[in-house]
Amino acid sequence: MVGNRKRILTGDRPTGRLHLGHWVGSLQNRVLLQDDYDCFFILADLHTLTTRPEKEALAQVPDHIRDSVLDYLAAGIDPERASIFVQSAVPETAELNLLLMMLVSVPRLERLPSIKDMADAAHLDVLPFGLLGYPVLQAADILLPRAQVVPVGKDNVPHVEITREIARRFNNLYGEVFPEPEAMVSEVPSLPGIYGMQKMSKSLGNAILLADSPDVVRQRVMQMYTDPNRIRADIPGNVDGNPVFIYHDAFNRDVDEVNDLKERYRAGRVGDVEVKQKLFRAIELVLEPMRERRARFESRPGMVAEVLDAGNRRARAVAAETMALVREAMGITYYR
Ligand code: TRP
Repeated sequence: MVGNRKRILTGDRPTGRLHLGHWVGSLQNRVLLQDDYDCFFILADLHTLTTRPEKEALAQVPDHIRDSVLDYLAAGIDPERASIFVQSAVPETAELNLLLMMLVSVPRLERLPSIKDMADAAHLDVLPFGLLGYPVLQAADILLPRAQVVPVGKDNVPHVEITREIARRFNNLYGEVFPEPEAMVSEVPSLPGIYGMQKMSKSLGNAILLADSPDVVRQRVMQMYTDPNRIRADIPGNVDGNPVFIYHDAFNRDVDEVNDLKERYRAGRVGDVEVKQKLFRAIELVLEPMRERRARFESRPGMVAEVLDAGNRRARAVAAETMALVREAMGITYYR
């Protein structure tokens, strides 16, 4: 089954239920990739500690992991083909992280805008050592299964670039152990929240969750911002940058319907209500099968634990293999 398909590693920090932005930006792609690649999907719980080490935050992680797994499965990730695992269940992560820390400079990490952005978003006024090391920990995630391809959003590309530099440095110093992983960047622009402007984010309260009920989805769609200058249906409206049409482009498979709506919107011949009702139907075509799959998985007690047990076991097996190669290459095999 695994054969010589290329290996992928990607994943998320378990911070709660996933939303339409996750589906547009990564989940729908992952579902396709599992056909052609040997996929590892990581739930990076240790990465959440870089900004939120408090016990109360940690106490939420098990629920967040469970929700993420259910959302993955609902979206169509197939645990028979892909390995879903938890970062902290692979102790080799910490060991490789320590070795990789020696191969990257502090100024190189300090120059990354993502580090400061994460510190700001978490309202931290001083930079934790661990947060500076966020990309190195991510490099350990990627290099442990010796992944060749890393599907990520644009914001994470610099972390994959650092991973490549670290892999190159390791290979030069100690001999060829790691493939230089390539970022596979999602071309889809990030989905705005229902009020436009900012990107969709659960913490900003502008999200539609994959697990929302049809009633909630309808309500949220009806609340969406459109062209603010269009106070009546017979005023010509702007389609570009208009959240409702960005969503139509992202979710509505009926391209003729979308083009017809756009044309009439520009001409002032369609009301917002019709545009939104058709959008609601298009989103429901995506979410409805997810609800069915989720219900099926939720009704099987122990399903999530089973999926993670299998994924963790497989991730640990390849990690142990890699660490043996790493120690051998470095010559740190004495006294074991
Ligand atoms: N940094 C990713 C995020 O923004 C999560 C993550 C952790 C990750 N380790 C990874 C992504 C390895 C891709 C590969 O949430």
